[in-house]
Amino acid sequence: MTPAAKGAQAALTVLGLESSCDESAAAVVRRHADGRVEVLADLVLGQAAAHAPYGGVVPEIAARAHAEVMDGLAKQALAQAGLELNQIDGVAATAGPGLIGGVMAALMTAKGLALGAGLPLLAVNHLEGHALSPRLSAPLEFPWLLLLVSGGHTQLLIAEGVGRYRRLGATLDDAAGEAFDKTAKVMGLPYPGGPAVEAMAAKGDPARFALPEPLKGKPGCDFSFAGLKTAAKETWERLENPSEQDRADLCAAMQAAIVKHLAARAARAMDLFAEAHPDVPAPRPLVAAGGVAANAAIREALETAAAARGFALIAPPQKWCADNAAMIALAGAERLALGLTDGLDAPARARWPLDAVSARLAPKSGEGRKGPKA
Ligand code: KG4
Ligand code: ZN
Repeated sequence: MTPAAKGAQAALTVLGLESSCDESAAAVVRRHADGRVEVLADLVLGQAAAHAPYGGVVPEIAARAHAEVMDGLAKQALAQAGLELNQIDGVAATAGPGLIGGVMAALMTAKGLALGAGLPLLAVNHLEGHALSPRLSAPLEFPWLLLLVSGGHTQLLIAEGVGRYRRLGATLDDAAGEAFDKTAKVMGLPYPGGPAVEAMAAKGDPARFALPEPLKGKPGCDFSFAGLKTAAKETWERLENPSEQDRADLCAAMQAAIVKHLAARAARAMDLFAEAHPDVPAPRPLVAAGGVAANAAIREALETAAAARGFALIAPPQKWCADNAAMIALAGAERLALGLTDGLDAPARARWPLDAVSARLAPKSGEGRKGPKA
């Protein structure tokens, strides 16, 4: 039965594929009409070990690794869900933004499966996957405020509906995760840097080194991490024979500066959200997603800032905060329920802003910012 024939009230089961950065993932999600979500299979193959020697994601290595495993992962996810391809309602894949060679692996696999089985294709914006990820854990009514903090993105947006997002601010240079990763690399800590910096920071004194406050006094909800990253690098290079304690103190200072910046901009966004949606009763939802949202100090600061403004922090569990295919399958199912399917000519896109305003300002590339996932 086609989804249209099933009607909007039926449950929809979607296979989702993800390969936009350094995780190859496949999942099967069933979305019920009442908003309940069942995750029937959820597989992630990380590539951290392959990239670790380089201290960051190497696009060619990522693309090749995704291409090698994508079809096998899709098959394995269906087997784990106990379903054949003809028992699902659609095939979703991240179509961008991301490292283009990687994006193509999941998208092409999804196109092949959709064509072969006569199923609808859902070309999902990876950011919409993150934006909808809280719904994997529990039903949540629109609108909500989203702080997306990962290795590729740092932005604040209001999720107003499926396909309807309003961006309040984004990073002008590096993503928060990049600031963690690059500082870790400078200090000789392993990749990915975030968890390593967090562990070292626990043993350090955040007050010993003074780091600049990004965009101090600047209005708006944008972020900047490049100056902070450079200041941390210069501080490190000025130390003669740095000790473990030096390293811990600089990690603590860097983490504290990032925490403060994120919480300050999120606080402004909460005020804007409350103005834009005065009818949403307290506690209003602030969702934190992306790998960096795993950081305990960041969560604590966001919780405090949220409580002071009549918001409550919702942080999806770590497996759905980081890159995964369950969120892509869910975004696909939500779009399928609305009839928002895509043709087999859907392009893979390195850049793809989620909000209509940014997309209109620069329709070709999405927007002018540099960086693979800007
Ligand atoms: O969302 P994610 O898994 O992948 C994408 O970037 O799309 O995020 C990975 C980023 C890396 O930069 C990593 O260092 C950072 O999340 N990260 C953390 C922590 N765990 C992961 N940053 C700070 N503290 C953590 N505990
Ligand atoms: Zn992501």
